Amino acid sequence: MLADMIEKGYFTCKLYNRELPLFYYLETDSTNEEAKRYHAEHKNAQALFIADAQTKGKGRRGRQFYSPAKDGIYMSLLFIPKEELSDVIAVTTAASVIAAQAIEEVTGQMAAIKWVNDVYVRERKVCGILAEAILPDEPGGCTAVILGIGINVYNRDFPEELEGIAGSLGEGSGNPEWKDRLIIRITEGLVDYLSNVANRSFMEEYRKRSMVLDKNITCYDGRDIYPAHAIDIEEDGGLVIITDAGERRTLHSGEITIRLKE
Ligand code: BTN
Repeated sequence: MLADMIEKGYFTCKLYNRELPLFYYLETDSTNEEAKRYHAEHKNAQALFIADAQTKGKGRRGRQFYSPAKDGIYMSLLFIPKEELSDVIAVTTAASVIAAQAIEEVTGQMAAIKWVNDVYVRERKVCGILAEAILPDEPGGCTAVILGIGINVYNRDFPEELEGIAGSLGEGSGNPEWKDRLIIRITEGLVDYLSNVANRSFMEEYRKRSMVLDKNITCYDGRDIYPAHAIDIEEDGGLVIITDAGERRTLHSGEITIRLKE
């Protein structure tokens, strides 16, 4: 079915009442970069970019996203947001819920979310999300959003630096249909969500799937590293913590790790 869509060059569901062109690559540097280049040439266009392999897959905080041929899903949705930037930020939170639900539906494996938006299966990260906003020349608003999603589907092995951290859905096997079904389910979920971003019902689901709530964590805010306890997630996705020094804070960015032992 996905092969059919690729052949026809568009996805069957519409985004904001417009057909969604689909660009498929056997190999590219990064589907987010493909989307960026496309946007530079076609200012008002929306499209979906999918690759079988990425040579320079990008992760958050300037990291690389390991993207070997055929093992994973590397997809980016380029869209022109209808909402204010604050709602666009919520898109990544919603995307993690959509990806977790799709993984559970398609593979039957339980998927949890680690703040901010990594999806975990069997305590290993299987999915990462990188949203990039293209800002207008004048301050305020956002011209376009590129929502990149990477999922480790069939990988058996990972490079040494990812061992014990990254995992895959099939761990060397897995149903050959998983990849296509996940891409279809996730794209449909995103299109559905984007048609009504004011609906924040996904936040409840995000909290339910959170693997950090009520856990002792270590926070890294880009400058300091400190221990804390995660107590809540606000409607805008902010993580409410109590530091071990007793201070209540809400984190909107940064990295956390879960402390397993005290
Ligand atoms: C992260 O875990 O830090 C985010 C990873 C995002 C990876 C996806 S794969 C498709 C898209 N293209 C990229 O270069 N990155 C995103």
